[in-house]
Amino acid sequence: ATPGLVDRYGRLATDLRVSLTDRCNLRCTYCMPAEGLPALPRDKVMTRAEIARLVGVAVRDLGVRQVRFTGGEPLLRGDLAEIVADIAALDPRPEISLTTNAVGLDSRAATLRAAGLDRINVSLDTLDPDTFARLARRPFLERTLAGIDAGAREFDLVKINAVLVRGVNLGHAADLLSWCLERGFELRFIEQMPLDADHSWDRTAMVTAAEVRELLGQRFALSADDEPRDGAPAERFAVRSLATGERLGRVGIIASVTEPFCADCRRTRLTAEGGIRDCLFAHTETDLLGPLRDGAADAELADRWRAAMWGKGAGHGMDDPSFVQPDRTMSAIGG
Ligand code: GTP
Ligand code: 5AD
Ligand code: SF4
Repeated sequence: ATPGLVDRYGRLATDLRVSLTDRCNLRCTYCMPAEGLPALPRDKVMTRAEIARLVGVAVRDLGVRQVRFTGGEPLLRGDLAEIVADIAALDPRPEISLTTNAVGLDSRAATLRAAGLDRINVSLDTLDPDTFARLARRPFLERTLAGIDAGAREFDLVKINAVLVRGVNLGHAADLLSWCLERGFELRFIEQMPLDADHSWDRTAMVTAAEVRELLGQRFALSADDEPRDGAPAERFAVRSLATGERLGRVGIIASVTEPFCADCRRTRLTAEGGIRDCLFAHTETDLLGPLRDGAADAELADRWRAAMWGKGAGHGMDDPSFVQPDRTMSAIGG
């Protein structure tokens, strides 16, 4: 077998995150500017066939075992179900997941499951309509909740992602957790990362993992989860009732800033325009779409991908005084 996506620090990337579009129908403050960003020209974005080709190389030749579709908002691709079906037909079949804001998922969840989608992670920062509209700059809470309902009917595992912003939704954290526990969803609180368009991220204002644990501890008893973390961004906790000790479910905390997990990173990223990013915070990308369109064979694409990952840095370096936020915003990387 050919070698997989190893880097000079000995990590092996087996999880691929594929951004399907840079466009989004929300404008979350921590991700996109109010006015949006210029969308990539259509001919620069990977087609369904190009996605299948590159993901096929990753799965067959490079040992990728999990494929996650992100955006922008991946549901904005009308051909999402077809893309999922292409990937589900690969041998070996990877696990296929989707990170979405769930707007419009209500009418598509069943089709996506039938196409082979295994599970979904949905962004939901608050259950309050006004706060939602303020954070997402669009009044789409109802639509998001309808999407989550449909997702819950189709998929066994639904994870919810929440970014807490001080002075906005921090006070909603425990209620959001109750709501998720009642429905069997796995909620994860995510530390805000410096990937916003406005460059307004402020480490001292950011809500930290320690603060979230303390806040949730006032309403629930949290203890270490028994499942292995396995390189996942989220550290998981078992949640129990403070009063009765009854187990209610679990919660995750993704502490990218204060408790980075880069040493166990298993991720490689493919941008919507077919470039490899070795890290969320990378400043360079390796183009694969150009060579693909110029007729490169699978073996050459695989070699380029391996070379790109070999150069992956030890970590995001946010604590380094020389840290510079990448030009690309979260919306154009896909998280
Ligand atoms: P599963 O654990 O497989 O369900 O997925 P996930 O949590 O890795 O994916 P999701 O798209 O739901 O991302 C949740 C949060 O984790 C987002 O804020 C991502 O940006 C963040 N995240 C995912 N991968 C990485 C990573 O490699 N580094 C950092 N710093 N954050 C990441
Ligand atoms: N920091 C941390 N998480 C972010 N997300 C978007 N922008 C940021 C940011 N600046 C989250 C979204 C989504 C996931 C893919 O990334 O909430 O759930
Ligand atoms: Fe991996 Fe980069 Fe994320 Fe660290 S910041 S976990 S190295 S992708």
